[in-house]
Amino acid sequence: MTAAVRCAGVVQIYRAGELEVVALRDVDLVIERGETVALLGPSGAGKTTLLWMLAGLLRPSAGRLWLNGTELAALDQRRLDRLRAGHIGVVLQNPARNLIPYATPAQNVAFAQRGVRRDRTRIGELLERVGLGGVKTRVGRLSGGEQQRVAVAVALANRPRLLLADEPTSQLDAATGRTVVDLIRSAAAEEGTTAVVVTHDQAVSGALGRTVTIRDGRVGAEGRRGEDFVVVGRDGGLLLPPEFHELLPPGSRARVVPLPQGVALHRVDEDA
Ligand SMILES: Nc1ncnc2c1ncn2[C@@H]1O[C@H](COP(=O)(O)OP(=O)(O)O)[C@@H](O)[C@H]1O
Ligand SMILES: [Mg+2]
Repeated sequence: MTAAVRCAGVVQIYRAGELEVVALRDVDLVIERGETVALLGPSGAGKTTLLWMLAGLLRPSAGRLWLNGTELAALDQRRLDRLRAGHIGVVLQNPARNLIPYATPAQNVAFAQRGVRRDRTRIGELLERVGLGGVKTRVGRLSGGEQQRVAVAVALANRPRLLLADEPTSQLDAATGRTVVDLIRSAAAEEGTTAVVVTHDQAVSGALGRTVTIRDGRVGAEGRRGEDFVVVGRDGGLLLPPEFHELLPPGSRARVVPLPQGVALHRVDEDA
């Protein structure tokens, strides 16, 4: 089956005057249809950049990117816009940027359905599930957490194939955060929506199917069911988890010792 997301050697370099920031370096990632993935990593690791790329909002400086087998770079602007409107739901890190402040939550979700089939039942259902059913207040007057929940409903309005959410529960308490995660999980289970959710919240990442940790612009680790694995990159490189930096500090030398199923790294002291 065609993967929902495939990244091969994706690189993003931001240029600010004379300065270059390498935000992503050689990201290889495959996400199957209906998977729910938590994108983890320290601030500045490149999570938002990767999400923007998957959303078609940013073109990679190098590397290739496919959504459901379609290479984004091969699409002209009109096709890309159509793909984004019909098949991709995005919750930006600042939810207010997704929303129309002077419209009600229902009007906001309805607006997301412009140009596609309007589905009033869906609008009511989504708002009910995020705890905002019947709320007639205009969105600009809602709290940050309420706006986040409207943004999630907006992103799911068209039963997207791909949901991309950047810290969608950052302003929610644990119980409300849980309802948002449940909604994302049922979209995956019932509609085959593939979800990529940037989060710092372990309650969120623990409830999703897989974790992908971005470190320094690369896929540093992948995990399932609470266990984390380092990922060997296309250049053979791997990023040691920070908890091992004391045993093997950056720049230290190690002997690579083969084992039946892999290798062990033994630190070699310089003066030995
Ligand atoms: N528009 C931009 N121009 C220049 N540098 C940027 C821009 N956006 C992000 N960066 C830099 O790229 C790196 C990754 O940023 P980002 O993707 O926002 O990380 P995260 O979401 O993991 O915190 C950081 O070093 C950040 O400062
Ligand atoms: Mg970010």
